[in-house]
Amino acid sequence: MNIDSLTIDGGIPLTGRIQVRGAKNLVTKAMVASLLGESESLLRGVPDISDVRVVRGLLEVHGVSVSHGVESGDLILDPTNVRSAHMADIDAHAGSSRIPILFCGPLLHQLGEAFIPDLGGCRIGDRPIDFHLDALRKFGAVVDKLPSGIHITAPNGLTGATIELPYPSVGATEQVLLTATRAKGTTELRNAAIEPEIMDLIAILQKMGAIISVEPNRVILIEGVDRLDGYTHRAIFDRNEAASWASAALATKGDIMVEGAKQEHMMTFLNVYRKAGGKFDIYEDGIRFYHPGGELKPVVIETDVHPGFMTDWQQPLIVALTQATGESIVHETVYENRFGFTDALIEMGADITVHKNGLDGTPRRVPRRDLEQAAVIVGPTPLHGADIEVPDLRGGFSHLIAAVTADGRSRVSNVGIISRGYENLLEKLEALGARFTAEG
Ligand code: EPZ
Repeated sequence: MNIDSLTIDGGIPLTGRIQVRGAKNLVTKAMVASLLGESESLLRGVPDISDVRVVRGLLEVHGVSVSHGVESGDLILDPTNVRSAHMADIDAHAGSSRIPILFCGPLLHQLGEAFIPDLGGCRIGDRPIDFHLDALRKFGAVVDKLPSGIHITAPNGLTGATIELPYPSVGATEQVLLTATRAKGTTELRNAAIEPEIMDLIAILQKMGAIISVEPNRVILIEGVDRLDGYTHRAIFDRNEAASWASAALATKGDIMVEGAKQEHMMTFLNVYRKAGGKFDIYEDGIRFYHPGGELKPVVIETDVHPGFMTDWQQPLIVALTQATGESIVHETVYENRFGFTDALIEMGADITVHKNGLDGTPRRVPRRDLEQAAVIVGPTPLHGADIEVPDLRGGFSHLIAAVTADGRSRVSNVGIISRGYENLLEKLEALGARFTAEG
């Protein structure tokens, strides 16, 4: 989607059927995992989003051939000619993605070195990579900081290690998985992330020949093997996109069938959705999310690691909470600046107060106290159109929902960011009855 802004006439319920395909936060990692194999991989259900195109470019500069398969969403990845790449080429393709950091392990195994440019990603906090670099050093890697990134080598190869993460970081867990599978000896990873996307990556690595066991209490054991082969895998569906459309149905008093959504990976979201007054029907081919009429109810939630309420779900849900009768509270405990999108909602008439240092008096569950922020949303407040600029991926989707919810006309600019994670966004909005015009 190379459009820059949308002019949206709101006040229309979104109704209809859309399809979500492979999870943005799995398929990009699965593409990197193909580097570890000695033969071709086939990844199925890959959405056409810019994050996938960025990783494809990064793989291709490293000599991996990436081509489309027979079925729509099929990606064939052939790593047999993997080679070193120049920093300038890597930089040119890295774009605004954080995925390059996950190339470290596979490239160290295949080539003995890796150049990783400074990372992008949504500006929702500082987003350091200290957990990643500490883990890589424990495997025996040597990290040299460069002006525009890092150069990493493994002079004595990579050896399994015991690694305890200070926080169940999704990216750092993936870093360890992608490095440990072909390291010499066994790795014990403690305080690991266990999101469904992580489990899907483990399934992919197991298909490739890895020996990985998920133990109780967030411990993952990986026994290093000498060789991994290609995989064939259909990616898990995108929970974040499914939750985004579910929230859109609630906010716009609509009714959306999200094809591909599965209950087992959205249980916590579904509980909150029901408590907020939303209805959902579970089918074999998806989940129907709808506003049953009447009032929405306020909720108090806090974001957490899986199986808690995902931080990526709070932005779209908050738009629906502006229409709930009463006071809702959302505690954000994963990122230090993930309520920036609420400025635009306030401009549209929402009553939201962000407490940068959390709410006094409420019990602090999160050891990383300094990160905890809270948004207090009082509703219902009619939303009116406004000119808004998209700040980040999930916040941007929330702005779109708010514009469709609001009475009157809104102009949403910088919408290209949203295409990083939402496939066929305009076609889906159109299919659901949204009224908008796009400007390049
Ligand atoms: C992944 O980001 C997702 N992105 C995020 O989705 C998601 O919000 C996040 O996991 C949590 O579920 C992708 O998978 C591409 P983390 P990641 O490492 O791996 C801190 C979206 O919109 N941290 O679990 O970067 C970090 O700053 C995106 O799809 C360190 O301090 O998340 C954050 O506060 C947004 N040091 C917390 O841990 C590190 O080395 C969680 O980060 C790494 C992380």
